[in-house]
Amino acid sequence: MIIKEHVSLQPYNTFGINAKARYFAEVKTLDELSWVMQQRSYPKKLILGGGSNMLLTGDLDALVILISLKGKEIVEREEDHIEIRVMAGENWHELVLWSLEHGFGGLENLSLIPGSVGSAPIQNIGAYGVELKDHFVSCEAMELATQHLQTFSLEECQFGYRDSYFKQAGKGKYVICSVSFRLSTQNHTLRTEYGTIAAELRNSGVLHPTIQDISRAVIRIRQQKLPDPAILGNSGSFFKNPVITTSTYEKLQLKYPDMPSYKVSEKHVKVPAAWMIDSCGFKGYRKGDAGVHEHQALVLVNYGEATGAEILQLAEQIQEKVQKTFGIPIVPEVNIL
Ligand code: FAD
Ligand code: EPU
Repeated sequence: MIIKEHVSLQPYNTFGINAKARYFAEVKTLDELSWVMQQRSYPKKLILGGGSNMLLTGDLDALVILISLKGKEIVEREEDHIEIRVMAGENWHELVLWSLEHGFGGLENLSLIPGSVGSAPIQNIGAYGVELKDHFVSCEAMELATQHLQTFSLEECQFGYRDSYFKQAGKGKYVICSVSFRLSTQNHTLRTEYGTIAAELRNSGVLHPTIQDISRAVIRIRQQKLPDPAILGNSGSFFKNPVITTSTYEKLQLKYPDMPSYKVSEKHVKVPAAWMIDSCGFKGYRKGDAGVHEHQALVLVNYGEATGAEILQLAEQIQEKVQKTFGIPIVPEVNIL
């Protein structure tokens, strides 16, 4: 394994930011990962998957470790489900397509999410009414300090909305090496109630959807709404949707009767940050090469030459305006480095 120096990370982050890594290594085996972790001459280490949930605000004076551990295996077969173990460096969407080709159900609503399998538990990826945790069994992670492999159960991962143990107390301490999922092989549970999935299926003339139909519908919806990072640099939703108390929401509704909300508990609702950013007039806003996507106000974009610092400045401007207008803080979902 070669440790390179002064490597541009532009091809490795979907924002397309041209920041450099002081050192860079790609690991393809657990032995290589263990070896690189032991190298004391590189005290700062950063784990990189597909780079689709990070904003690089400058050069990184660190050893950036690209996780390219590959492989997947079926570890258990029961009458109506299987358990699969997938290495961290596999591409998420390719895993979804592979599972659908084999008739395994569960991940179809999570189609077309960029990034690697090993990063998926970090923020408990979610879309269209399903979260990673719904099909997660466990993951295996290497502790940076000791190079020991540890298994984390569903409970130990402490998954929440765009949140996990690995974003909280375990932040920066582990490298996820593999993830195990439980998928159905028959009598699949179809989740079509979220957003416009049902309408999309109806419009395509699908009356009795299969898991493959749902995946195709989700892909079409996402392609209409979200910019393709290969064409326009972005990291998906830049902020999380804030959760507020029902009483705060009711007060806001007096002033903003159109403000949407989704019930999350008896006393809390989630409000779409996109709606608030849009209402503040930012949709389609552009300053230099940093901008807000013209179809989805929650997505910040890089029109070409924006620096991470410029994107961050725009993000802070948005946070300030939303806070001033609605009294609600919005926090980044994207990892700012
Ligand atoms: P990276 O950006 O490489 O890393 C993210 C974080 O995890 C970093 O802090 C990194 O250090 C850490 N990390 C990465 N790999 C490991 C590992 N193996 N072990 C330990 N730490 C690790 N997300 C959703 O939840 N739902 C969506 O619908 C969605 N849509 C998106 C659409 C677009 C167009 C884009 C660009 C992004 C979208 N995202 C979405 C965000 C993103 O795809 C996910 O968060 C994804 O899981 C990030 O994976 P990655 O491999 O690119 O992670
Ligand atoms: N809206 C606006 N203006 C806009 C866009 C949206 O007012 O420009 C309003 C609409 O009322 C819409 C609502 O906001 O109904 C929600 O929008 P959308 O359905 O596009 O979803 P989102 O809340 O913006 C979330 C996730 C996405 C995920 C989709 C589908 C977060 C932070 N984002 O987006 O995840 O794909 O739902 O489930 O929870 C990501 O995490 O990177 C991501 C893309």
